[in-house]
Amino acid sequence: MKRLHLIILSSAFVAMVSCQSHKVESTIGSSPEVEARVERILSQMTLAEKIGQMNQVSAGGDVTNYAEALRKGQIGSILNEVDPEKINEYQRICIEESRLGIPLLVARDIIHGFHTIFPIPLGLAASFDPDLVEQGARTAALEGSAQGIRWTFSPMLDIARDPRWGRMAEGSGEDTFLDTKMAEAMVRGYQGASIDTTSMAACIKHFVGYGAAEGGRDYNSTNLTERQLRNIYLPPFEAAVKSGAMTLMTSFNDNDGVPSTGNIFIVKDILREEWGFDGLVVTDWNSMGEMINHGFGTDKKDVAKKALEAGVDMDMMTFGYLSHLEELVRNGSVKEAALDQAVRNILRVKIMLGLFEHPYVNAEAGKTVQYAPEHLETALKSAEESAILLKNDGILPLNEEGIRSILVTGPMADAPHDQLGTWAFDGQKEHTVTPLKALQERFPGKVTFIPALSSSRERKTRFDDVVAAARRADVVLAFLGEEAILSGEAHSLADLNLKGSQSELLEALKLAGKPVVATIMAGRPLTIERDLPNCDAILYSFHPGTMGGPALVNLITGDVNPSGKTPVTFLRTVGQVPLYYSHTMTGRPYNGETLLDDIPPEAGQTSLGNTSYYLDYGAYPLFPFGFGLSYTSFDYSRISLDKDVYDEGDCLEISLTLSNTGKYDGTEVVQVYVRDMVGSLTRPVKELKHFERVYLKAGESRDLRISIPVSELAFYGLDGIKKVEPGEFRIWVAGDSASGEPLSFTVE
Ligand code: GLC
Repeated sequence: MKRLHLIILSSAFVAMVSCQSHKVESTIGSSPEVEARVERILSQMTLAEKIGQMNQVSAGGDVTNYAEALRKGQIGSILNEVDPEKINEYQRICIEESRLGIPLLVARDIIHGFHTIFPIPLGLAASFDPDLVEQGARTAALEGSAQGIRWTFSPMLDIARDPRWGRMAEGSGEDTFLDTKMAEAMVRGYQGASIDTTSMAACIKHFVGYGAAEGGRDYNSTNLTERQLRNIYLPPFEAAVKSGAMTLMTSFNDNDGVPSTGNIFIVKDILREEWGFDGLVVTDWNSMGEMINHGFGTDKKDVAKKALEAGVDMDMMTFGYLSHLEELVRNGSVKEAALDQAVRNILRVKIMLGLFEHPYVNAEAGKTVQYAPEHLETALKSAEESAILLKNDGILPLNEEGIRSILVTGPMADAPHDQLGTWAFDGQKEHTVTPLKALQERFPGKVTFIPALSSSRERKTRFDDVVAAARRADVVLAFLGEEAILSGEAHSLADLNLKGSQSELLEALKLAGKPVVATIMAGRPLTIERDLPNCDAILYSFHPGTMGGPALVNLITGDVNPSGKTPVTFLRTVGQVPLYYSHTMTGRPYNGETLLDDIPPEAGQTSLGNTSYYLDYGAYPLFPFGFGLSYTSFDYSRISLDKDVYDEGDCLEISLTLSNTGKYDGTEVVQVYVRDMVGSLTRPVKELKHFERVYLKAGESRDLRISIPVSELAFYGLDGIKKVEPGEFRIWVAGDSASGEPLSFTVE
């Protein structure tokens, strides 16, 4: 009785104290009750048990490998185990055989789907459809949580403006606003409207600036100024924190000389202090240990101390915390209070996910959720909306009545594994529907398949058989691009042309004199200028996932009208890197200067151009950001603003009429760009501030009204304060970042 009485008193006391000490508001939605439970558990923990919670290990082997460590409370989280029976056993050992019975956080890289695989995130961004992306993330959470996975290392928010970087595939492209909208959508999708047993804690990563790796070489150093961080790279993370993201992962890169995992400025000062983030911060895989390679720490004890001082809660696979924190506390190098704070953040997430009440899953029931018809339907719709029509000389949509014979060729026509894209660990290729399979089903008896190349890298000089087959066909559908392994982590490329002899295949097919429709599946925007003349149409599909085949057939036949838009700039050549739409003007903005082919004979030493461009490739991309064709055409008219002069508390009220002037129903992604003409810093020539998908029937017109708070024009200026600076602005409403005529307005 005495012991029980003591526990009741202590928990009431703790509840009172924690209510008083409870933060004003929790970014992850904690409550005084949760905080009281956190304090109650923490108060019972030994130093060793606290350290154990801060340790994450990669499982995926035999459960007995870790049984002893689990019993001792030396593991707080595992990743890479997806067998629900094994996950249940891991949890059982923790709960029944460890002293405090604290459940594990079970994590996996569920990046664009668990079993049902969606287009890679770069493709999802091309849909410009946050609602659909949220549905996809919710689907992934339903499938993952049903097997015991309650933490995903997604979404990746790394803005990428260098397609040589293989991980461009995993993010939402080059633009801060688009990235922000996708981030918010995925956090909502993974975690759900409210946290329940189908929730997976989102993990916003990689904090921060990882996509700006010098040379586009993965893991390379970045050199972003604080202004670039605050105006370009941090806003998506801040928005995701405000959306309730429960966890965050630090990045491998050092920025301006400081590796993120030991970077007090970004983790403690900005994330914790400025934004008030009270979720869990985990390192990337051994990124703590890699600070030794960086030359930022002398040994594991040193880097463990640095990571803790920065505010990192959990160590993924360095074992620096497990090996050294006890000694560091005992010798006074670190305070146990710092460990307490880390363990609070970990316990808070575990309590909020309901892991103490629901640590186990019903493995049998979980199987029925995987690949559910409604999941495949969402994946199909996502793949349809993610594809971008880059060229169409009129061959698309296919006129099915006139088609008697289709030649299907190319290394990506029937690539069930590679079509899933990078980071699709758990997508089973047996479930993939490839374009070939979908075409054979749609056009029974009419499809001839000659791969012509066994892989994207195969080199060949002759294509006699496939050219002969093309002559006999009514249309050639070529599926090209790159295998999944050629993008993603550690897979940077210095040459972005179609690999192997894919371009030569297109050249050969052109000679056959039949229409050629090229569909390109890739993890990045490849440089395809040389291939354009050899194709009558090009559909670009960033690795479209499980349902890519039916999606592409629905698009090629016109059952679905393409609506995707480029989430990144498509370059003419890799030598143009970096080239992105929201660049600054420079003192010498390009205005169509003399190009190589126009240089007069015996040109003297005079300058051929006085602006910022390339003599051989100019300064314009092949396709700009936000670009994508449709089978129909859209007209923007009667664009107007409600006022000429605004103050910061106003909203820009934009009116326009959008008309579908073609003969197909279709969806347009209406985009609004703004330019701040003069600032305390030089400002981008354009910045996306709004987009929306508008569906119009053929011939239909619709008056649209778009409202953008003037406060959205704020930026961190010369004085480091975020505000809207008065002055002249321009605004464009168009179907891509290079179109439209600007209107002017003033902010006072
Ligand atoms: C990898 C990636 C990270 C991933 C983690 C766990 O190295 O950088 O994005 O979540 O390790 O697999």
